[in-house]
Amino acid sequence: MMQIKRYKIVKSTNEIAKELLKTQIYTVGGTFLPRYHSIGVRKPLLQCILADEQTDGKGRFDRKWLSQKGGLYLSIIIEKTPLPSLRACYAVARTIEILTTLRPQIRWPNDVLIRNKKVAGVLTESLNNNYICGIGVNLNQKDFNAISEATSIQIETGETIDQDKFLKILLSHFEQTDFTIEKIRDYLLFLGKGVVISINSKEKQGIFMDIADDGSLLLREDSGMIRKLQSSEVKFLR
Ligand code: BTN
Repeated sequence: MMQIKRYKIVKSTNEIAKELLKTQIYTVGGTFLPRYHSIGVRKPLLQCILADEQTDGKGRFDRKWLSQKGGLYLSIIIEKTPLPSLRACYAVARTIEILTTLRPQIRWPNDVLIRNKKVAGVLTESLNNNYICGIGVNLNQKDFNAISEATSIQIETGETIDQDKFLKILLSHFEQTDFTIEKIRDYLLFLGKGVVISINSKEKQGIFMDIADDGSLLLREDSGMIRKLQSSEVKFLR
């Protein structure tokens, strides 16, 4: 079971998670211990930092993540496991599906979309042997200061989403031990379609063939060559 630390307002939950990781790394019987503590059975920390608002929410590539009240902002600290960002996208997509009649889609490598607008983003960072998986979900915000690419579940359904309920379902899916790439294929935006990708600032066209087991994207270029792309080198996909 994950421990949840709640804050009203923080700069960024990922930053809080980093600070926590630097000082308190292990739990014994649910109690946090400093990383140098050597008594007892050491269990890896599995913890969630949650905030109602962020003043300096961060996105990938140093972008800002607008974090007013109404959204869900959390960072999960986990031991290194494969595919953390896709796992997080899957958990968000499943939760939306369970709580609404919407059909969410995952835009590789870290976005969740509804009707082609972004409803959630994931920023995974690593520190020592851990990942900090930062997840931002637009739940109940009513406007996005003219960011036309963004939407919220409230805007899409007209209904207010219960934050605690959403969080509980999200975490239970995030923690599933049987997560595989198979599970996300159904949700993948552009799968089998022609796409334009920005790779290290150069645009490339091709067919989005699949996602490999290691989470990289397989792009078939016009020449027929299949390129394997890591999420770190791809800036956008459209
Ligand atoms: C992106 O789409 O580029 C990723 C956005 C990630 C936002 C979340 S909100 C909680 C956590 N704290 C942050 O500062 N960023 C992530």
